[in-house]
Amino acid sequence: MSPAYEGDHLDFRDARITGFTAKEERYYPRPPREASASLPGAPAVFLGRHDELDQLMRVLDPQADTSGTGTGEPHLAVCVVSGHDGLGKSALALRAAHRAVANDWFPGGVFYVDLHRPGTDPLADDEAVRILLSYLGVGDHEVSGLATAWDGHYRTCLAQRPGPALLLLDNAVQAEQIERLRPGVAHHRVLVTSRSGLTDLEAHAIRLRPLSTADSLSLLVTLLSMGVDGENRAVQEPDAMSLLVDLCEGVPLNIRRAAAGLRKRPDVTIAEYVKLLVENRAAHEARLGAEESTARIGWLQRFGGPWLRRRGP
Ligand SMILES: Nc1ncnc2c1ncn2[C@@H]1O[C@H](COP(=O)(O)OP(=O)(O)OP(=O)(O)O)[C@@H](O)[C@H]1O
Ligand SMILES: [Mg+2]
Repeated sequence: MSPAYEGDHLDFRDARITGFTAKEERYYPRPPREASASLPGAPAVFLGRHDELDQLMRVLDPQADTSGTGTGEPHLAVCVVSGHDGLGKSALALRAAHRAVANDWFPGGVFYVDLHRPGTDPLADDEAVRILLSYLGVGDHEVSGLATAWDGHYRTCLAQRPGPALLLLDNAVQAEQIERLRPGVAHHRVLVTSRSGLTDLEAHAIRLRPLSTADSLSLLVTLLSMGVDGENRAVQEPDAMSLLVDLCEGVPLNIRRAAAGLRKRPDVTIAEYVKLLVENRAAHEARLGAEESTARIGWLQRFGGPWLRRRGP
């Protein structure tokens, strides 16, 4: 008896068709699909967020009872990490997903879909299903008919995974997107990031807040000195560093941009950099008016760039 065939052709092994037996070496099994390969890398430097990461890992653990009822009954876990842009939702989710992979929690695979890449329209719902189906080994030509048939096919494929699977759905815009992609099998996990809270969704919610001052400072110092010999501005200008940390308002994206701006210009003091950022932000706020002036990011990107170019060699 031949072992079960999992290739993508009809299995004629051992079949007597026209008087001969099909030969084993004629078979070209479909290569194994490495579902986890769709996961982007987590940031190499990741600081703080210990509580949030612990909370997330508890929800993701496929062995855990996530029903919250204490009955021990398995329950599909969806977790939404929300917060405004640049706060580190995707970084946290990726960190957790990679940790879960390292723990071997998801033998059924880890599937990543970016539902709304910056600067583009959100992914159409059908497109997200098609991408996931392709990760699951189903090509466009293999599914035809109505989109609802695709949904059924998608859930069937997920149900057939060899163990718990994790879906990481980044940058979700609406709860409906997630509802449609929610697997039917209880041991799978869905991790969502979204700028809005997606409060319509039955899900665990982790709302990110700005990084603490201590974590912000550690991040800035780490990024500034990483791999750069003789970089000692942070040590020489502690007061200016504190001001710069305040300006970044605990937003990791701001901290990364500030560090990148300083790394590009080793000849500029931190005090000089801060002074110009403050001037630039004031100009930005005056232009936008009171309402938008509270936006935590944007000004650093828009004004950090031109200023750095002006001062460039
Ligand atoms: N805790 C952290 N430690 C170090 N770097 C971080 C941390 N959190 C986020 N970052 C970095 O800050 C930047 C912004 O983070 P991220 O892209 O995760 O934000 P986001 O909340 O997903 O933003 P958006 O809403 O635009 O998708 C990235 O470069 C990321 O690597
Ligand atoms: Mg993101």
